[in-house]
Parts: sequence; C-alpha cells; structure tokens
Amino acid sequence: MSAVIPLHGGNRFQEARRLGVSEESVLDASASLVPFPLPRRLRRCLMKALDGSALRDYPDVSHRCFREAIGKWHRVDPSMVLPGNGAAELFTWAARDAASEGVSTLPVPGFVDYVRALCCWNATYSFQQLPLSWSSKAPQHFPVGPSTEVIWITNPHNPTGQLWSRSSMEDLLKRYRLVICDEAFLPIVPNGEMQSLLPLVGDYSNLIVIRSLTKLFGIAGLRLGYAISTPERLNRWSQWRDPWPLNGLAVAAGTMLVSDHLFLKHWIARVNRWVECEGAWLHSQLESSHSLSPCPSSANYFLAHSDSSLVPLREQLARQGVLLRDCRSFEGLDERWLRIGLQNKAGNRRIIEAIKNVS
Ligand SMILES: Cc1ncc(COP(=O)(O)O)c(C=O)c1O
Repeated sequence: MSAVIPLHGGNRFQEARRLGVSEESVLDASASLVPFPLPRRLRRCLMKALDGSALRDYPDVSHRCFREAIGKWHRVDPSMVLPGNGAAELFTWAARDAASEGVSTLPVPGFVDYVRALCCWNATYSFQQLPLSWSSKAPQHFPVGPSTEVIWITNPHNPTGQLWSRSSMEDLLKRYRLVICDEAFLPIVPNGEMQSLLPLVGDYSNLIVIRSLTKLFGIAGLRLGYAISTPERLNRWSQWRDPWPLNGLAVAAGTMLVSDHLFLKHWIARVNRWVECEGAWLHSQLESSHSLSPCPSSANYFLAHSDSSLVPLREQLARQGVLLRDCRSFEGLDERWLRIGLQNKAGNRRIIEAIKNVS
C-alpha cells in the first residue's frame, strides 16, 4: 500500500505504476472531470493552432480575445476577466490579496489548494468546521462562521457536493472584507448557475469569483481557468505573475470553447442531464451496496463514509483498476471517508461491480 496520502485526486500515472498496470486500464474516479469524449471542434482547433503560430509565437499577453469571449458569456466587461493557468494558479494571487486583508476562514473539509496558496504569502487562516451530515442536494444556507477578514467559499463545495444558496452568500459579502468564491464545478450542477455570485461582481468590489474550464470539458491537462473581479484587482495580479502563464494552445482552445454560445448551451445541458441521471443511479447503487453511505450531492462527485476504515476497500478497488479519492488529506475527514467521481454509464457500472466483488 502507498504510504503517502495524496493531496489531490487524479494520480492515474503514479497509481498505474504502483499497481503495475497500464494507465489506460485504470478508471480514475479520484478526480471529478466530465468523462465525455473531447468535443470534435476542440481537436480541430488544437490541430489548427499547431499548424499555425501557436507554438512559435509568444501568446498575446493581454488575452484580449479570450477575455472578450468569457465576458460575453457571463455578461461582464472583459476588463473584469483574468484567464489563468487553471483555477489553481489564480488561487495564488487571490491568496496574496487575502494575506494583505487579514485572517482567512477556510470551511473544512475543503479543497486543500487554498492552504497551499495562502502559505505562499505566510498568510494566517483558521478552519470553519462544516457539519458532516445534511439531508438534501438542494441549495443550502451557508453556515455562519468565525469573524475574520476573508472567507474562501467553494460552490458547490468540494468534497461534499453541497450547493450553497446565493442568498446566504450575499450576507457574507457584507460581513467579510474579501470573499473568494471558487465556482469550478458550478456549470456542471443542474440549475447551479442560479446560485452563482457572478451577477454580484459589479456591485461588490470585495468579491472574487474563480472558475475552471478543466472540469466542464475534461481538459485538466490543458490548464484553463479565470477570475472575475474588479479591473484594479486583476491588473494588480497581472503585474505579479509571469508574463505568459497560459500557453498558446490553451488560449486558442479556451477562446474557441467559450465563443460559440449555442455549442456551450448544448454541452452544459448534456453535462447537467448526465449529472441528473447517472448521479441518481450511482447514488442509489452505492446506498444499496452496504459498503458505503453516500452523502447527498448536487455535483459530479459523492462523498461517502462508513463506520470503519475504508482504506482496505479503496486498495481492493485499486487492485481492480478503480481509483477512488482517499479523503485523509481533507482536514476533518479520516480513513472512514472516500470521494467518488461520477463516470460515464460503463464506468459507473464498473465501480459498482468492483465494490460488489469486494463485499
Ligand atoms: C474545488 C476546486 N477548485 C479548483 C480546482 C482546480 O481547478 P483547475 O484544474 O482549473 O486548476 C479543483 C481541482 O480539483 C477543485 O477541486
């Protein structure tokens, strides 16, 4: 068994090596990416960019076309958009602002990368323990936390899949000097956009919304995210980071993916239907497996628990080529918790079969 507890899911390469199997034979449900085949137009776009100047030339430092396309999609001015090398890169700059405002509140269990980002700037933070049981995947009221200067929200929350209501987060904008809201998974959630804080960015200069394209399109290797906030804040971040954080292929792909609104609408509707149908199926099968109790989730992943350690189950599934997320690296969770990323129909059936083979 691996002695090192991974900080993130999505370690297909290391796990395949550890298990002595090919990467292709492994079903990676430890990361939570949309599992559809890449859109054909994305392949075409990348080929065109390769044949053109995307590799030879430096990328446009202003990312003007990409920012305009994102701005049109979310109905904000392009000056309020900053593309990043994945959402993760942008957390680093949000954390620098957080450090200068004061102490950050981090709801836990939560996404560990915020701690990494805050540690870059020696920022102080404290944890807000979230309740570990809830009864519905419907939008919930975000619980009142400690009085600090900054709060980091993940909507839907990772690893729990809880969807926070916009109205409860609006209160936070009045309580905290800075609110950083990570909406990396929000477009994947059916009706999730109704809880987005994006419509409020024009009214609140203390709000940063960070989004990712890597989950929605299953392109984690390309690295594409963006922040939406005040132009002053984003200009400041631009001065801090290296001049070309996004490569030319990623910029070409990102611009193409968000420019055609009809394509976007159809893609998101298909993703939402998958979460609705396959999510319900996987949840009910996990419930009846008796090995795990899945929590209600609005998102494309389920947190599941048991009364005893799930480390042996996780390892037995890995031996069958099915990787689930070890949750021991989440503050507040232990070996009795696992997170399962929703797969396509065949993948979800493979997960359930593998669990049945163990129990
Ligand atoms: C909640 C959350 N936000 C952001 C990210 C990172 O997104 P990106 O791949 O765009 O850096 C992750 C990755 O797992 C995540 O779980």
